[in-house]
Amino acid sequence: MVDLAAIRARHAASPFLAACRGAPHDTVPVWFMRQAGRALGEYRAIREQHTFEEVVHTPELAAEVTLQPVRRYGVDAAVLFSDIVTPVQAIGLDVTIKPGVGPVIDRPLRTIEDVSRLRRLDAEEDLAHVLDTISLLVEELDVPLIGFAGAPFTLASYLIEGGPSRSYSRTKALMFTDELTWHRLLDRLASIVGASLVGQVSRGASAVQLFDSWAGALAPEDYERFVLPHTRRVLEQVGELGVPRIHFGVDTGELLGLMATAGTEVVGVDWRTPLDHARTRVPEGVGLQGNLEPAVCLGPFPQVADRARDVLRRAGGRPDHVFNLGHGVLPATDPGVLAELVALVHEEGGVMAPADNGAGADGEAAEHDREVPQ
Ligand code: CP3
Repeated sequence: MVDLAAIRARHAASPFLAACRGAPHDTVPVWFMRQAGRALGEYRAIREQHTFEEVVHTPELAAEVTLQPVRRYGVDAAVLFSDIVTPVQAIGLDVTIKPGVGPVIDRPLRTIEDVSRLRRLDAEEDLAHVLDTISLLVEELDVPLIGFAGAPFTLASYLIEGGPSRSYSRTKALMFTDELTWHRLLDRLASIVGASLVGQVSRGASAVQLFDSWAGALAPEDYERFVLPHTRRVLEQVGELGVPRIHFGVDTGELLGLMATAGTEVVGVDWRTPLDHARTRVPEGVGLQGNLEPAVCLGPFPQVADRARDVLRRAGGRPDHVFNLGHGVLPATDPGVLAELVALVHEEGGVMAPADNGAGADGEAAEHDREVPQ
């Protein structure tokens, strides 16, 4: 039996969980999307011996790989090592992760008959390996564990296209030519993804992130009509469990306001939208995560430091900011740079008390001339 109350008590003072809720804490918390993975020599060493799928299917290995960046970087949260396609692999779809490419599927889903290949997911049964990884991790970790899933749209895009895409033309073609099949596909994916997240939280994940990485390909009206209702259903299921939810996508500057209405405590912002601009698009009561350009971390540290300070300045010292990159860590990143970046955010990221954030309880706009920590 998992003692969820004990896990909650252990993380009662977590700055990451406090920031997700806009609650008081002292320093800006930081973690990195894709913090586990090829930037770390110790990860590459494991991958020389095992395929990606073997790592995900072996709880001891998946837990080790999840812990590696926590040890190296001193981040304020761990993120479970698996993939957005793990739940659909678990119900028998022929999806594989091709190194250097991403998820590919031999028989893409494009018709209503194809959609019937998506059966219900029983997390305890089908994702036993993932949930056992969580059980190992919550024993070991001093910081909260973030569970995650791919949102229905992003997952659908891989399953319809057959692999990564630039234009999403087959995905959009299905959306605009066969609305019934589209909604049935997204509805089934929402059930699968929701069951996966509920399973992760019931084993001890303290927060979840829903990756709608590729939603930025859509016009706002299409996002609202074809995607948002399904995403909302996923996030509402998790909301009942009381853990903070983070909702993230790339190139979603024009969608941030809509994404914030899906049922989330925090919206993740990519590097294209400065955080102070994002703040005007996302309603009070929803926090922001982000958003240093990941490629900046390929350059010299003084430049990384300047840009990180700019992110902190634009976040304004508000208590509802979680520092992150604007997307995942690039494999060529020097881990030493990320460790220094974490130290900088912890040293310089001051947080104002919630009452001082310039936004009254009635949601007035923040004052523009207030002092912000440098
Ligand atoms: O630290 C972490 O974030 C670990 C867990 C994690 C992975 N994938 C591990 C992984 C998470 C949260 C993901 C999410 C994921 N997977 C997303 C959403 C995040 C995003 O980047 O927008 C997406 C779109 C995928 C699909 C996917 N899986 C891609 C595009 C790739 C990379 C392909 C490549 O080789 O460049 C994968 C494989 C993958 N998932 C790797 C890792 C560490 C690399 C696998 C390897 O070791 O070769």
